[in-house]
Amino acid sequence: MELNIPNHVAIIMDGNGRWAQNRNYKRTKGHQMGAKVLKKISEYAFNKKVKVLSVFAFSTENWKRSKEEVDYIMNLFVSIFKENYESMKKIGVRVVFSGLRSKLSDKVLKLIDKMTLETKDNKNGIFNICINYGGQDEIVEATKKIASKVKEGIIDVNDINKEMYNDYMFNDLPPIDLMIRTSGEYRISNFMLWQMAYSELYFTDTLWPDFDEKEFDLALESFNKRDRRYGGVKK
Ligand code: IPE
Ligand code: IPE
Ligand code: MG
Repeated sequence: MELNIPNHVAIIMDGNGRWAQNRNYKRTKGHQMGAKVLKKISEYAFNKKVKVLSVFAFSTENWKRSKEEVDYIMNLFVSIFKENYESMKKIGVRVVFSGLRSKLSDKVLKLIDKMTLETKDNKNGIFNICINYGGQDEIVEATKKIASKVKEGIIDVNDINKEMYNDYMFNDLPPIDLMIRTSGEYRISNFMLWQMAYSELYFTDTLWPDFDEKEFDLALESFNKRDRRYGGVKK
């Protein structure tokens, strides 16, 4: 049977710390392994013709962790971006970032800007990397931008509508069709709340460093069994 491929897949890559702790490694080792899995799965997803892939790499809440762990993750971003740069350009995917710029180091921001700029004309898909990202913050930021347009008289308050919000989000992305969360947690943790309004949710106990192509296929198969009614009635 030919699988229907979701247009926009989002992944909450969770369980790196537990993966490491189960092996008596430092939590940071889990992040290192998780980064390798991200490379593999992103290439696989775009090969499967997923058009938009959003991944949760660091939340606005993750600053609560130890300085050692946060520093490690930030340095990991720098090395992954440098390493995966060519491969992203080769597969012709546009890389975009979602999140608040505040608190991110110049080094991370510089690479983010470089990758965004150099891949901006790529047409084979969009790779949305969420760093220092919070779903509620994204909606608040959009609201501020819309409010300032109202104040300037560019938008009439009665013309504000939900379609318009997309233009004011960190990136103008289509709705999420399939959201995958690893590590056996059944929550959204403030990830892409707006875009997830009608997405199908898939949860697996597998920890992110153990996630592989087969697991991705299982999620796709599950997605294909869903009956997406959007509030309507089954046809
Ligand atoms: C996800 O793995 C990666 C980040 C949040 C940066 P965790 O580090 O949350 O792993 P667990 O949930 O502690 O196992
Ligand atoms: C969500 O995972 C954030 C990322 C995967 C980057 P967390 O591990 O931070 O979420 P909680 O704390 O279990 O909700
Ligand atoms: Mg976690």
